[in-house]
Amino acid sequence: MKTIAEYIEEVIKEAFKASEYDEKFAKVTISNRPDLCEYQCNGAMAAAKTYRKAPIMIANSVVEKLQDSPVFESVEAVNPGFINLKVKKEFLADYLNRMLADPKLSVEEAKNPKTIVIDYGGPNVAKPLHVGHLRSAIIGESIKRMGRFLGHKVIGDVHLGDWGLQMGLIITELSKRKPELVYFDEAYEGEYPEEAPFTVSELEEIYPTASGKSKEDEAYKNEALEATLQLQQGRRGYRALWKHIMEVSVTDLKKNYAKLNVDFDLWMGESDADAYIPDMVNYLKENGYAYLDQGALVVDVKEETDTKEIPPCMILKSDGASLYNTTDLATIVQRMEDFKPDEIIYVVDKRQELHFVQVFRCAQKAKMVEDDTKLTFVGFGTMNGKDGKPFKTREGGVMRLERLIGEINEEMFRKIVENRSVKDENAEKTAQMVGLSAIKYGDLSNQASKDYIFDIERFTSFEGNTGPYILYTIVRIKSILSRYAEEGKNPEDGMIQCAVNASEKNLMLELSRFNSIIEPAFEEKAPHRICAYIYDLANAFNSFYHETRILGEEDEMKKRSWIRLLTLTKKVLETCIDLLGFSAPERM
Ligand code: ARG
Repeated sequence: MKTIAEYIEEVIKEAFKASEYDEKFAKVTISNRPDLCEYQCNGAMAAAKTYRKAPIMIANSVVEKLQDSPVFESVEAVNPGFINLKVKKEFLADYLNRMLADPKLSVEEAKNPKTIVIDYGGPNVAKPLHVGHLRSAIIGESIKRMGRFLGHKVIGDVHLGDWGLQMGLIITELSKRKPELVYFDEAYEGEYPEEAPFTVSELEEIYPTASGKSKEDEAYKNEALEATLQLQQGRRGYRALWKHIMEVSVTDLKKNYAKLNVDFDLWMGESDADAYIPDMVNYLKENGYAYLDQGALVVDVKEETDTKEIPPCMILKSDGASLYNTTDLATIVQRMEDFKPDEIIYVVDKRQELHFVQVFRCAQKAKMVEDDTKLTFVGFGTMNGKDGKPFKTREGGVMRLERLIGEINEEMFRKIVENRSVKDENAEKTAQMVGLSAIKYGDLSNQASKDYIFDIERFTSFEGNTGPYILYTIVRIKSILSRYAEEGKNPEDGMIQCAVNASEKNLMLELSRFNSIIEPAFEEKAPHRICAYIYDLANAFNSFYHETRILGEEDEMKKRSWIRLLTLTKKVLETCIDLLGFSAPERM
């Protein structure tokens, strides 16, 4: 469906033309003075320059042509030349009824659906998930859902960090603790055991221990580097250990992501890119893109228009070892082979921006992607604590994701139980759902690229611009609808009638904006726009609710119309929170 603004603009264009002015001046926007009008057109001001006339004269003549329009309740020219518009109630009601009848609630699917790979999550195997990975998961999941809602084919890849030094560190530490394991016997030729020689909690302890040792002990670090190299070169025992580490870790990661309502289509990682490296390196060399600089293989990626220095993209170190660049480039090769995507989106900490500038430029310059393949970096800011520094535990350590989620859920549970007179065995489940909304909305309501303060108290509040407030609003609607159904009536029957008061009309106007929000939100990879929208919508609904006795209304027609309006509000809110990656309980 066209947006309301598009409908309005069409009519205004006709009026400009009828007045013999160019229709390009008929731009319509949402009013920035809601006390005066709902939509506005400022085109007369711009047209005044072209036609050398007073803007108010132009506005007056356009307004004259619009007097009997079926779209407007009122059209006014206001000095110096604004055209103030109010939408006709019938037109608005009709629009909302069409939304109700549309499975996508007025949002049109893309005419040319794209294949998009989205790379998000990026956890490092064997290291516990920490809050840094939270943002990537939350933002990426939302972008993925938006893209799919708009009809694109979106493939989510977790892109595990599974090939780096952390693997060598674990192997080294294991070799000290259990040197008798067959994995370390280079002469061994038999099958390796099915069972991993460690549990997930052991693994979680082994990594930080090894990492600590390597920082103090140079020889230890060299051993770990050597183990990493041998692993990458295919030493059998190490590969077998690596498989165990992967199995144990990935099972645990899956459990954690599931708790966050985050789901990946692909569980690929840096290790999967390894096989593509040798051919890629040859290709870069043979086609003259890469050259040797002090032993290292590099590709120049600076451009004339650069205002700051962009160093060459290093493909291989002088000892022949591959780097983060190498894996990311090889992963592009692999994704092009597997999916031929129109776009690859990376949702990664914005401090990695330079890395992606180099990788993207290299891929484009060396024609590893098509000319029209879009490579998009969505860089996010840091999640800080109330002190404005990166979020830590109360004791000052790195905050593990599980612990953070646990703390939020406890807080939510406490609040929910406080609100209840009767015992509710679902309270724990509800607390988890509301807790997730607190975390996700708290994150997504900020522009992704900005740092933000993770404030448990504020995020878990039932009032203000929070996830729990949005859920509370949905639950309120659900409860009215189910009481209506208890009266033996079907909330799916009937039509929305014209608004009878200002708060109802305001709610209707907010609802009608839905499609004008979703598409740009995806184009700009900006879930915060959806948050801003549902906050306005929830406020509009709650004002209407406080002014209106819905179930007590005696006029059946009116009551049914309101029930339909509530149904639409619920659908729009639920669709939006689904795009943000959380859902609402039945009660709270
Ligand atoms: N594992 C990386 C990290 O923790 C993030 C990976 C992001 N994705 C990518 N294709 N480089 O920093």
